[in-house]
Amino acid sequence: MVKRGKVTKITRPRHLEGEIDLPGDKSISHRAIILNGLASGKAKISNFAPGRDCVSTVNCLRNLGVKIQPKGAPLSSHLLISGTGGELQESQNVLDAGNSATTMRLLSGLLAGQPILSIITGDSSLRSRPMGRVLEPLRLMGASIWGRSHNSLAPLVIKGSPLQGTDFDLAVPSAQVKSAILLAGLQAQGETILRHKVVSRDHSERLLQQMGANIVIEDKSIFLRPLSQPLTPIDLNIPGDISSAAYFLVAGAIHPYAKITLRNCGINPTRTGILDALEAMGVQIKRENARMEGNEPVADISIETSDLKGVDIGGDIIPRLIDEIPVLAVAGCIAKGKTTIRGAGELRVKESDRIANISLELSKMGAEIEELPDGMVINGGKPLTGTEVDSHGDHRIAMSLAIAGLVAKGETIINKAGVVEISYPSFWQSIDVFSRTEDTYLSTSTG
Ligand code: S3P
Repeated sequence: MVKRGKVTKITRPRHLEGEIDLPGDKSISHRAIILNGLASGKAKISNFAPGRDCVSTVNCLRNLGVKIQPKGAPLSSHLLISGTGGELQESQNVLDAGNSATTMRLLSGLLAGQPILSIITGDSSLRSRPMGRVLEPLRLMGASIWGRSHNSLAPLVIKGSPLQGTDFDLAVPSAQVKSAILLAGLQAQGETILRHKVVSRDHSERLLQQMGANIVIEDKSIFLRPLSQPLTPIDLNIPGDISSAAYFLVAGAIHPYAKITLRNCGINPTRTGILDALEAMGVQIKRENARMEGNEPVADISIETSDLKGVDIGGDIIPRLIDEIPVLAVAGCIAKGKTTIRGAGELRVKESDRIANISLELSKMGAEIEELPDGMVINGGKPLTGTEVDSHGDHRIAMSLAIAGLVAKGETIINKAGVVEISYPSFWQSIDVFSRTEDTYLSTSTG
């Protein structure tokens, strides 16, 4: 029986088998509608990410005068965007980014160069996340932008003003900060140069290249010049989200009887750290039907039960698997030996403190995890036992705990599990496809 609610119960299925099509990539979906919203003309987007984060971006853009059809809930995965040619309308109300930092940070860069006044807020998690990393570079470009707590927290007030391109060294390897600066740079006078030591996801750059922007990428530097005419719209079929695939990649590797295929998975090299990490742990991953969708590499990925060994993860790989670390910790619990994750202090300022929360919740299930300021050490190979755990309102913690529940002995009860809606609303249905039983999880609305 399948009931959706605040509390979800999971038990270990005998087998995990089957194939699914992945939901569209969240990062690419945000960018596809923001950039097409600036373009001149219409664009068709298919396999648009279904989660609430991308709905937040759709709603903000609609309030800023971008026509996105069809209207109505739930949001269709096929959208038609009518670009504004680069001129947004002032929103009549406060813009709400919900739980989505990508929405807030990217729109800050965009709105900084528009001759309108904008106020953008979000939920309590987003209002506690660092915004100074975006406000500071935008201010250097001439933006009039303010935030709570000495310009470090949302809500943000943005009074659009003329911007000037600048030469930046990116201190944090953040694709959100990089993309905010690029969106401001598109509207600035002169050249914007971004230099980074560690590469982060490059979906904005790939889209900008395809849409006719004056962008040149050389090794670890990006050079962007403003356009004399608007961007060219582009139709896109959004690749499946490797961050959503990660849950079932780990489940397939750690479950004792598993063989699963994830069709249409984005394998952009700036995102495939999870594949590299699992391979280093001894997992065989098959990539088939490799192709390009838009300017992004895609493949069907298959995985089956493997004997995992502990690994050391750190350094340049971290931005390439930053969102996958909570579920990688689950793999670390099952792997034989020690897994160490370092250099991932950014996890403490995600939707929740993911280092503290995943360590705490997996420990309740019997895992041996020691928290580090910038990661964790896991003594793997100890069996997990189902118990009552909590998502802390964080979608990636909820889904990681569900994967732990798929291999744990007994019943795992996840509180506030409905938060998977943020990025993967059909997550529980995907579990059902693979477990082929109706009783893998049971939800009640009594939590
Ligand atoms: C994202 C970039 C990453 C990631 C987030 C989505 C993006 O954040 O954690 O879920 O779409 O640009 P940072 O850029 O802050 O590292």
